[in-house]
Amino acid sequence: MVALARTPSSLSVEDARRLARQLFDLDVSTVSELPSERDRNFRLETPRGAFVLKLAGPTESDGVLDLQNRALEWIAERAAELPVPRLVARSPDGRTRLLSYLPGTILAEARPRSPALLARVGGLLGRLDVALAGFRHSAAVGRDLMWDPARAPEIIERHRDAIADLARRELVARFEALYKSEVAPLLPGLPRSVIHNDANDYNVLVGPPAERPEDRPVTGLLDFGDMVETWTVCELAVALAYGIFGQPEALVAAERVVAGYHSQRPLSEAELDAVWILAAMRLCTSVCLSAHRRTAEPENPYLLVSEAPAWDALGRMAEIHPRFARAALRNACGFPPCAQTPALEAWLRKHHGEFAPVVTADLGRAVVFDLSVASPEFRTPAETLDTATMTPRLFSKMREAGTDVGIGRYDEARLIYGGDAFAAATSAMGAEHPERRTVHIALDIFMDPGAPVHAPLAGRVHAVHDNAARYDYGPTVILEHAPEGAPRFYTLYGHLAPDCLESLEPGQDIARGQRVGAIGAPPGNGDWPPHVHFQIVTDMLDGGGEFHGVGSASEREVWRAFSPDPTPLLGVGESRPDFRATATMDRPARLFDARRRLLGANLSLAYRTPLEIVRGAGTHLFDQTGRAFLDMVNNVAHVGHAHPRVVAAGARQMTVLNTNTRYLHPSILRYAERLAAMLPDPLSVCFFVCSGSEANELALRMARAHTGKRGVIVLAGAYHGNTQGLIEVSPYKFDGRGGSGRPEHGRTRVVPMPDDYRGLYRRDDPRRAAKFAAHVAEAARDGDVAAFLCESLLSCGGQIELPPGYLATAYRHAREAGAVCIADEVQVGFGRVGSHFWGFQTQGEEVVPDIVTLGKPIGNGHPLGAVVTTPAIAASFANGMEYFNTFGGNPVSCEIGLAVLDVIRDEGLQDRALAVGGRLRSGLQSLVERHEPAGDARGLGLFLGLELVESKASRTPSAARAAYVVERMKDHGILLSTDGPDHNVVKMKPPLSFSDDDAARVVEALDRVLSEDFVRTA
Ligand SMILES: Cc1ncc(COP(=O)(O)O)c(C=O)c1O
Repeated sequence: MVALARTPSSLSVEDARRLARQLFDLDVSTVSELPSERDRNFRLETPRGAFVLKLAGPTESDGVLDLQNRALEWIAERAAELPVPRLVARSPDGRTRLLSYLPGTILAEARPRSPALLARVGGLLGRLDVALAGFRHSAAVGRDLMWDPARAPEIIERHRDAIADLARRELVARFEALYKSEVAPLLPGLPRSVIHNDANDYNVLVGPPAERPEDRPVTGLLDFGDMVETWTVCELAVALAYGIFGQPEALVAAERVVAGYHSQRPLSEAELDAVWILAAMRLCTSVCLSAHRRTAEPENPYLLVSEAPAWDALGRMAEIHPRFARAALRNACGFPPCAQTPALEAWLRKHHGEFAPVVTADLGRAVVFDLSVASPEFRTPAETLDTATMTPRLFSKMREAGTDVGIGRYDEARLIYGGDAFAAATSAMGAEHPERRTVHIALDIFMDPGAPVHAPLAGRVHAVHDNAARYDYGPTVILEHAPEGAPRFYTLYGHLAPDCLESLEPGQDIARGQRVGAIGAPPGNGDWPPHVHFQIVTDMLDGGGEFHGVGSASEREVWRAFSPDPTPLLGVGESRPDFRATATMDRPARLFDARRRLLGANLSLAYRTPLEIVRGAGTHLFDQTGRAFLDMVNNVAHVGHAHPRVVAAGARQMTVLNTNTRYLHPSILRYAERLAAMLPDPLSVCFFVCSGSEANELALRMARAHTGKRGVIVLAGAYHGNTQGLIEVSPYKFDGRGGSGRPEHGRTRVVPMPDDYRGLYRRDDPRRAAKFAAHVAEAARDGDVAAFLCESLLSCGGQIELPPGYLATAYRHAREAGAVCIADEVQVGFGRVGSHFWGFQTQGEEVVPDIVTLGKPIGNGHPLGAVVTTPAIAASFANGMEYFNTFGGNPVSCEIGLAVLDVIRDEGLQDRALAVGGRLRSGLQSLVERHEPAGDARGLGLFLGLELVESKASRTPSAARAAYVVERMKDHGILLSTDGPDHNVVKMKPPLSFSDDDAARVVEALDRVLSEDFVRTA
């Protein structure tokens, strides 16, 4: 690899051009040099297409050149479709060659390196190895090559001590030891062939970025200079080693590469068992060679930088137990993750009637608790951690059901673990969407403290300890079992009373039915409601008597193989299938099908792969596996999802009374008084409805009743509601997909959207507000206008702040024509804009609408809406026809509305919107400065938008980029959506409980996504 000095370095591009003419009769228009370690490579543009002129370095033997050439010819004959260079021609001595040019970007520079792309890399290598099977060449055997996999142990041993850092040296030594014990014995049985042996991320080419990163093709594999005959699986090991580079989730990346390879060249179990450590050995070889080179060139900073990703990948591989990695890779290829588990499961099923009872209770009558993400047993995720609350709740359920035993389910995703459920984001540095472990891979048996716990079968004490600190288990016993006819396995009993710590010794024999301990009491049991956590473990993974009781949802099948369902050991067998929560975990695909059957097709779903969302709390939404998503779109959950005070207010009133407004009741009056007090005079008369659409419908009826006119002026791009009447005044709909244009009755008048970024008049025009407003005067000229209906900041229009002074002038024009002014505050009211409680107030004190419509945030998710108007308009509306609304203004809605106002006040949410929103907006502004397609950042408080364009100069909307950003941000665990008539504005309007940390996370993730190839080059 270091023979640079001996390459034909004196050759210039002009020499290359001349050579191409002399040797290959090529008329070259342009020549450029391509990077290479041993050879000199030139890209030639010719009328016959692009080629690579490859001049072999002097260290390359004729034999090895012949090996490469024959291999390329062999592949061309047998697998012409493989994207590898074709040998077009060669000089008589074979050392100067003309190869076909493969277009593409090197994988090292591809952003993102999606799991699907890594699978394609694996797939290409699998196809290559299938094609190369049967290829033989004498130069491929016994090559003097540092990268020969067979030489890895020798190279590592020779250079290991050049690694200065002792911990790093130790890391390498660990993999060396694993190689000796786990891989070396397998090697003699592994298939061998000639392999490419260098699929590093500089030798793999990928195609142009795709809107779906998973669609990006792999277009080439370069550099056949390291070919060697060896164990075929080493091909995959090299790709796996480099596939992990830059991937925080090393195992996920490895699984994809391996699965892709396996789909083309099926791997044997022995190959799969070896590949992880072979990959680590490749990285160890690399870091040892770097360390060795560094001793020769200590001042060369490049060497340090270039070895960093290999150390990083090795470090992350070392965090994963190699047998867990092996299980995950087996699972990715469709093998049972743990080879022994199916036999154990069969044995357990067969013998399920023969075990001694673990607890002395009738498990057939046990209450099964729902402790899943969606469980109604707890109000907030934090509450599940509160033993003092949960204990009486669970135990009173057991008593009500007339039983002394309750079950917490196996294979259930829970939010209980790992402390604060909302801090999901921070665990794995750099991971797109860090995952907490949520899936319970044991059964919980809830009983009163002191209830004895017995061994279901004979065994030996493997461990007994109090590991409350690390795993929350409290006093724990682990037994090892080796029954006849079954693979060895372990049973784990957690949260016991402390007496087991004294009474049991590791190594002690335990008889079938012998007492191993008793159910412990909090706090000594790890501080949980009294229960025994009962788990099977097939492989303790050298954990020194500790094992996770909860696995990650993404590796759920693997965790379940390490800890299969222990129900058969309880003797209840299949009579209690409800002890497993498996069905909930596998639900999204079934929900999707049912939705297509049962609901209208135009009820749209967000995201290409829709999410099942089963819980909300604060600024987060949770899917059924417990994955947390930061919610940036649900402005309806204004004070935070499932805010306990709002929930309690609704529940309290629902238990007492919910009826219509035909009786006197104080709630509606208290609420009307509170709302009116928050609005400027003369807005003082309230009407309650159930949605923003209803509010706008009612407002238009009032305007028409008051003015006796019919026309309505609205802004282009506006949306005001889903009724027939409102669709007719919503250009967003009638001019959008499926719309049939502006209604012909002439009542709807559309004026230009006052978008001063991309609209008719721009920010550099100080008179833009007046110019935009003049269109309102124009639209009202015939005098038949009942209302000017306008949002105070434009939402569907694309998160647009109105230019200063716009509303004052537009309102004046509208009123001069006899119209009333309706402020649609459905999206932007209730403190979201930070500086003021209502959006229209940001346009100046003199701006007072005649009617204000309210919705969405008003009930924090409860269907509530309101219209507030002046006594004069209310009087015109009261023309004798009764106004009745079955649900509007009912006591439950009003109590919820009051609670929302209380929370906004008590939690200082308007001030928070101002402060946090201000910082988020500065963060977005910094993105605009750094990323060409980020055209504009705008908005007030926590009502913000980022407009994506082709380029800053053109301002041409880029819907594709916006859609891409939204999809990719979901991959980062952040929910956003697009808006604007061109669908190119990423909108942000999170619950107001949004924090500075949330904002920082959003900006950081956006920064990464905006740097990805599709955004940069689409
Ligand atoms: C500005 C505006 N007005 C009114 C509505 C209608 O509200 P709802 O969907 O509650 O009927 C919406 C809904 O998106 C809206 O954005």
